Amino acid sequence: MRLVLFGPPGAGKGTQAVKLSHKLGVPHVSTGDILRRNVGEATDLGKAAQGHMDKGQLVPDELVIAMTERRLRQADAKQGFILDGFPRTVAQAEALAKLTPLDAVVNLFLEPEELIKRNTGRRVCPKCEAVYHVLMNPPRKQGHCDRCGSALTVRPDDRGEVVRARIETHERQTAPLIKYYRDRGLLVDVYASGLIDEIFQRILEGLRL
Ligand code: AP5
Repeated sequence: MRLVLFGPPGAGKGTQAVKLSHKLGVPHVSTGDILRRNVGEATDLGKAAQGHMDKGQLVPDELVIAMTERRLRQADAKQGFILDGFPRTVAQAEALAKLTPLDAVVNLFLEPEELIKRNTGRRVCPKCEAVYHVLMNPPRKQGHCDRCGSALTVRPDDRGEVVRARIETHERQTAPLIKYYRDRGLLVDVYASGLIDEIFQRILEGLRL
């Protein structure tokens, strides 16, 4: 299964991608996670990306396309993948189309006010990249990762003004891809409000799995 999870910041792409990856046995490829790892390790890519990420802007296409192509050429992605956060521009979508066919693009949609709450309440594990929400998806022990026990942190781009900038960037630069994929018969719309497991069921139904 070659899937793209598409949707605005905080729609739940990462949360659902982890569940789909377990169910389908294909890797979860998150461009946001790969970029954050590069920022953390201060690689050349990380240094080039950080300023854009901190402002809620897209990292330039040429950097993200080369990074994603490298990842999708690895052996574990040969049988399929769940792409989360890529593509975000028509140029990225066209580069992806040259690299591999897709089975579907799941479009997670949600009311804007819900997006702000989801982003500002998010907590992440800096070690194993697990994602929580202080109210809606809390860890068992407050402030600590269920999987590895590390202290949870706030993502630098989850501050109020950057969240709003990310949502605006999505509307301006990424939302046009909805038409791009609908025209190609690949789009599966899924309403992303409700319990995490309910949304997972809607995705499986949408994909006829
Ligand atoms: P990225 O990491 O991809 O961020 P994003 O698209 O803004 O998406 P998020 O990770 O914020 O949200 P999500 O939809 O995965 O939601 P989540 O499951 O975490 O990108 C970060 C930055 O990197 C970009 O701004 C850009 O600068 C750069 N970048 C990345 N890819 C790029 C590309 N292709 N091109 C250029 N630049 C790129 O859920 C959110 C919260 O809600 C969590 O707290 C979660 O626990 C909670 N939650 C989830 N589901 C539910 C539910 N059903 N009910 C209640 N709470 C829920």
